Amino acid sequence: MRVDLFRTKSVEDIRAEAGDADGTGGSGGLRRRLSARHLVGFGIGVVIGTGIFTLTGVQAKDNAGPAVVISFVIAGVVAALAALCYAELASSVPTAGSAYSYAYATAGEVVAWIIGWDLFLEFALGAAVVARGWSGYVGNLLDLPPGLFGEDAPVNVGAALIVVVLVAVAVLGIRESARVTAGLVVVKVAVCVFIVVAGAWYVRGANLTPFVPPSRPAEGEGGLARPLLEATLGLEPVAFGVGGVLTAAAVVFFAYTGFEAVANLSEETRRPARDLPLGLLGTLALSTTLYVGVSLVLVGMVRYDRLDEGAPLADAFDQVGAGWASSLISLAAVAGLTSVILVDLLTASRIGFAMGRDGLLPPAVAGVSPRTGTPVRITLVFGVLVLVLSALVPLGTLADLVSIGTLFAFLLVSAAVPVLRRTRPDLRRPFRVPLSPVLPVVSALACLYLMLNLSIETWLRFLAWLALGFVVYAFYGRRHSRVRARQGSR
Ligand code: ALA
Repeated sequence: MRVDLFRTKSVEDIRAEAGDADGTGGSGGLRRRLSARHLVGFGIGVVIGTGIFTLTGVQAKDNAGPAVVISFVIAGVVAALAALCYAELASSVPTAGSAYSYAYATAGEVVAWIIGWDLFLEFALGAAVVARGWSGYVGNLLDLPPGLFGEDAPVNVGAALIVVVLVAVAVLGIRESARVTAGLVVVKVAVCVFIVVAGAWYVRGANLTPFVPPSRPAEGEGGLARPLLEATLGLEPVAFGVGGVLTAAAVVFFAYTGFEAVANLSEETRRPARDLPLGLLGTLALSTTLYVGVSLVLVGMVRYDRLDEGAPLADAFDQVGAGWASSLISLAAVAGLTSVILVDLLTASRIGFAMGRDGLLPPAVAGVSPRTGTPVRITLVFGVLVLVLSALVPLGTLADLVSIGTLFAFLLVSAAVPVLRRTRPDLRRPFRVPLSPVLPVVSALACLYLMLNLSIETWLRFLAWLALGFVVYAFYGRRHSRVRARQGSR
């Protein structure tokens, strides 16, 4: 049984299926059409979204004060450590499955399955959450009926509409998706730069002091809403102070989630050895710089206790008398959220594609259309799932669930680096994490620490999702695994 569950897939098999790294894709593989520039475009497309446009305000107001800037730096460092680990694995094992496939090669099938299952949570749920946010922004901007576009709508028509449009784009082709994403990304980055430059005129030093407001008992944050670590250590719930900055770091980590989607495009990248590390690290460097700039300007423009929770950036410009900038920012937020949904859909389908190819999901779903070169069926399956979730389920509190799923995947990816170095020292590694195993171990511990700063209810939901995953694996994946069939029932 042990061998059965922890059977690994050889790196050579993974590479062969993905096609020669410099070739045009393996049989049944995806088409290699992307460059480092496209990858950074995708990365920024999926990273900059609801995190910076909304969570910044809530976290500055409730947990960190002006020091939310430090929370962004802490979360950015944790994401950067994980990005280094991703860069090593993605350049040496370039495959559409990313973390799922690295786990298959190192920790074994059951861990790989759980990671893949966890990544569905991150990307499918992420797409649904952001589609609802998109609907709200569009509703505000165009004054559309809240009964169809608002968070309280019984059926959120706006969210369903944007999902249908973006599924069609995702099915059409990867280059078409890259083009749409690139256009949206330019708007989004331009607006972040605009916020920093225009907002800098309105920054007042008085708003930034005290930079770390003194800690005080948190109101109404009891029960299951408490961070797991705080509850386990029996600490009193507090807001602000150093603890508040760390809690905010765990929550704003959501703003960095998604950059690893770049690694899922390995099989569609022309020169993965060079372009993947560039794409991953470039995405993170650019987004961290923009986040620090935007959050600093925000808390400098308006005192943290007067920030708006729904649309803090647009509202800050209103509060300083620059209302003209506010609609511009809302418009850019709509563009920003659109690209997040598109890349989330693309990524969930690439992971499903890799799992179907391994027999852990029905292989029929992994087929690639000869006409578009994309995995059409799995994209449609996810499209329907995201459509239903985004139309019917209020997802306001589920951003933390996306974060915990991502941190869990990062933890396992960080651990996989030293494991693969031991088990496969001979592997060609175009990019190597410096100071291994120290950096990967620090990365894994940092991810665990941020996970522990998320609420008990988030942990419970996450564990329930993983338990469901085990059931699906036990009844389907374990029996149909291709690696199992290849290795026989040893
Ligand atoms: N990182 C993405 C966002 O902030 C999911 O919206």
